[in-house]
Amino acid sequence: MKRVLLIIGGGIAAYKCLDLIRRLRERGIGVRCVMTKAAQAFVTPLAVGAISNERVATELLDLEGEREIGHIRLAREADLVVVAPATADLLARMAQGHADDLATAVLLATRAPCLVAPAMNPAMWGHPATQRNVRQLTRDGVELIGPNAGEMAEAGEAGVGRMAEVAELVERIEAMLARGRGREPGLGFITVASAPPERLPLAGRHVLVTSGPTHEPIDSVRYIANRSSGKQGHAIAEAAARLGARVTLVSGPVQVADPEGVAVQHVETADEMLAAVEAALPADVAVCAAAVADWRVAAAGRGKIKKAAGAAPPTLALVENPDILRALAGRKRGRPALVVGFAAETETVVPHAQAKRTAKGADWIVANDVSEGRGVFGGDRNRVHLVTATEVEAWPDLTKAEVAERLMRRAARWLEDARAHA
Ligand SMILES: Cc1cc2nc3c(=O)[nH]c(=O)nc-3n(C[C@H](O)[C@H](O)[C@H](O)COP(=O)(O)O)c2cc1C
Repeated sequence: MKRVLLIIGGGIAAYKCLDLIRRLRERGIGVRCVMTKAAQAFVTPLAVGAISNERVATELLDLEGEREIGHIRLAREADLVVVAPATADLLARMAQGHADDLATAVLLATRAPCLVAPAMNPAMWGHPATQRNVRQLTRDGVELIGPNAGEMAEAGEAGVGRMAEVAELVERIEAMLARGRGREPGLGFITVASAPPERLPLAGRHVLVTSGPTHEPIDSVRYIANRSSGKQGHAIAEAAARLGARVTLVSGPVQVADPEGVAVQHVETADEMLAAVEAALPADVAVCAAAVADWRVAAAGRGKIKKAAGAAPPTLALVENPDILRALAGRKRGRPALVVGFAAETETVVPHAQAKRTAKGADWIVANDVSEGRGVFGGDRNRVHLVTATEVEAWPDLTKAEVAERLMRRAARWLEDARAHA
């Protein structure tokens, strides 16, 4: 039986852990829990112990606990360590390598892969200190899931900071368990198999990618969407991570799995996507591959609009959504060095892409022909033109993974050249 060691931090989202434990156990995964002192103010060790059917560990300096199952054994016997919710404080202590309570001591002692699910107020998440800690942790090989955009527990608060949903956590945990132990005994946090991480072409870079469609609500059950599958954007995020970058992927609602080794933020609307993108800055490269809805419904209703017999259908007044590519490319401060947009065109693809590049202030546009019969939406292949300020390159018919790899290698070369000429 695979074993997850779940470290529960002291945030409101701690209550979701009870459901997480149940869902994991339903799948035959054993769950042993460590709770921080603060976590115990949100859920009781009694509830966690009853649901996990294991004794809950809470104390480091506890003779009884240490004799029964000490912190080193807790660390060793896990196939995967999951921190959920990961508070801002816990992220800071992890990034610093503290070991002054049971949770941090176990995190330092384990050689198992580690997944953290941050959950906090959007201001705490966006704070440079938290972002610095997250960068350090991803560099150390820790994987991140979320946080997502949405409403906070505090009334009237919204933004990026919600813990990833239990279903997303379960899916990622199963994938990580299936992958097995990433860390070599004695090698600490080293996870990447091929070249030494510092020699990879995008090592030390932060790549921000948007992917998928957005859903713009009409009322609480209906929405406006488009046919973007997220396959190309997700492939770009995956390629950037493989080439050594720290990657933040801001994804609209898609059926594609989260790429490995990438911090994914799930959003629904264009407004949420923009907030998540801004919270993820600074970045060296931004690739806007998402098909952001151009318009949203001006006054989306909260309930369900009722269909009344004989009444005329409702009229939807639309307003323009934020233009994320233009907003990124036009930033006076904190503009990513390389801003790449995507153009999905159905006719005169290259001239439109050239016009879009100038209008939005982007450095490159990847133009693809999405006219009917090309099968780009949802398909696995893509034929694109790369439009820069000085040239237009016609790339051959490639898989989306190949387009992604080629684009990210090209971005790495561009960053190197820029550094050389700085
Ligand atoms: C009502 C309440 C809710 C809180 N929610 C969060 C939260 O969601 N995320 C967070 O990072 N901190 C939150 N905090 C602050 C943490 O509980 C505090 O930083 C604590 O020291 C975290 O300890 P731990 O990281 O050892 O679990 C909250 C505090 C209170 C009083």
